[in-house]
Amino acid sequence: MSKFKNKYTQKLLKVIPGGSHTYSRGADTFPSNAPSILEKGKGVYIFDETGKKYLDYGMGLRSVNIGYAEKSINKAAINAIIKGNNLTRPSLIELKAAELLTSLIKSSDMVKFTKNGSTAVTAAVKLARAYTGKNIVLRCAEQPFFSYDDWFIGSTNIPRGVTDETRKLTKLFHYNDIESLKKLIKKYKNKVACVVLEPSSTEHPKLNKKDIRLCKREGNFIDFRKENHFLKQVERICKENDIVFILDEMITGFRWHINGAQHFYDVSPDLSTFGKAMANGFSVSCISGKKKIMELGSITNKKQERVFLLSTTHGAEMNGLSAFIETMKFLKNKNVIKHNWNYGKKLIIEGNRIAKKNGLEDFFNFSGIACSPNYNCFDANKNNSLEFRTLFIQEMLKNHILMPWVALAFRHTEKELNKTLLSIDKSLFTYKKALKYGPKRYLKGHVIKPVFRKYN
Ligand SMILES: Cc1ncc(COP(=O)(O)O)c(C=O)c1O
Repeated sequence: MSKFKNKYTQKLLKVIPGGSHTYSRGADTFPSNAPSILEKGKGVYIFDETGKKYLDYGMGLRSVNIGYAEKSINKAAINAIIKGNNLTRPSLIELKAAELLTSLIKSSDMVKFTKNGSTAVTAAVKLARAYTGKNIVLRCAEQPFFSYDDWFIGSTNIPRGVTDETRKLTKLFHYNDIESLKKLIKKYKNKVACVVLEPSSTEHPKLNKKDIRLCKREGNFIDFRKENHFLKQVERICKENDIVFILDEMITGFRWHINGAQHFYDVSPDLSTFGKAMANGFSVSCISGKKKIMELGSITNKKQERVFLLSTTHGAEMNGLSAFIETMKFLKNKNVIKHNWNYGKKLIIEGNRIAKKNGLEDFFNFSGIACSPNYNCFDANKNNSLEFRTLFIQEMLKNHILMPWVALAFRHTEKELNKTLLSIDKSLFTYKKALKYGPKRYLKGHVIKPVFRKYN
């Protein structure tokens, strides 16, 4: 018998393995009082099938950084649909989008579009192997997701279905631990094709200085372009060892900086991947990078053995690419990225002030990079706790706020911030009691589970 009682969840589970097309949307990763099925989104609000409205911080798994159903972006996409959407030869919009992307991302001479991030990152790995003639992939251990393909899933704790041969080819290094990377490069000398990582996720690249505390505390105000930090060291080591340096900017791209987090941190990867918020919710992602590597997928280089690089029927759909062009225009004209940095900074500072006021600073806090904050829930022993995380999300939902994580968008304004802070205060009241009497007394349903686990 399923523990998921909601009738829509049961219907979903009957026809879709996992009950949704992305595991992180599944019923097991949300508390039982979360909406089970949604009808629509507008701005930063989502509406369930009964019309109940929630302030959202999930933002379509971070694919939306302006707001749902933003008028001008919808209009651009609809105009492309009217023009036929997917034509027999490359479209004018595809050319315009490619020129725009390569003008924004300095390290990228060429780009190929596709529909989701996983295929883009896998294409980068394939290109790296073709370019170097080497097989081993080194990927960052702390960053949770790069692709649904075997080279990555084989290196997680749910590798079922991936061959042992494939699994052996991906090795893990640690973020901000340059020695762990050096060790692997030494161990697999002349066998490493690429290093794959996100520029940052919950913390900035560590500075090459003794005072790491400073970096953590005030990281958002440091000019990383002037500093020698972890990512610059990774770039250098890759160069010295003929390893392709791949930055996965699926989350950081067009959130940290309009020219990519690679501009923010002043590094120049050989290959980059973008997706998520690049088209404010429309399905667009891409692999981009240096000509000498990208051109392996070309049709002009006669003397070279060809690489079959991303070739999909819907890869250059005009609605998505038009949405991408319009999104970039909107980001620039409205200063969206600055807005999101400011909002996140206030949320971190005020959220932590409220936690402190409730005497809970050791048990609940906001942290991370201001344009992409995260919150941490600890139990009475100060251990990371999914029970307390469930409780916090459950209590926020009672105030009609869905905060499974924190993805910020331009339509999160002062009004939403105030509503959120009030709700945090109320939720922490129950949180505090749960610390005293145990969370079970306050939890209304199942405890959420991480996507990457071996068993149900
Ligand atoms: C850093 C990163 N890379 C790649 C992906 C894969 O993107 P997609 O879900 O579009 O396949 C994700 C998705 O969460 C991601 O966060």
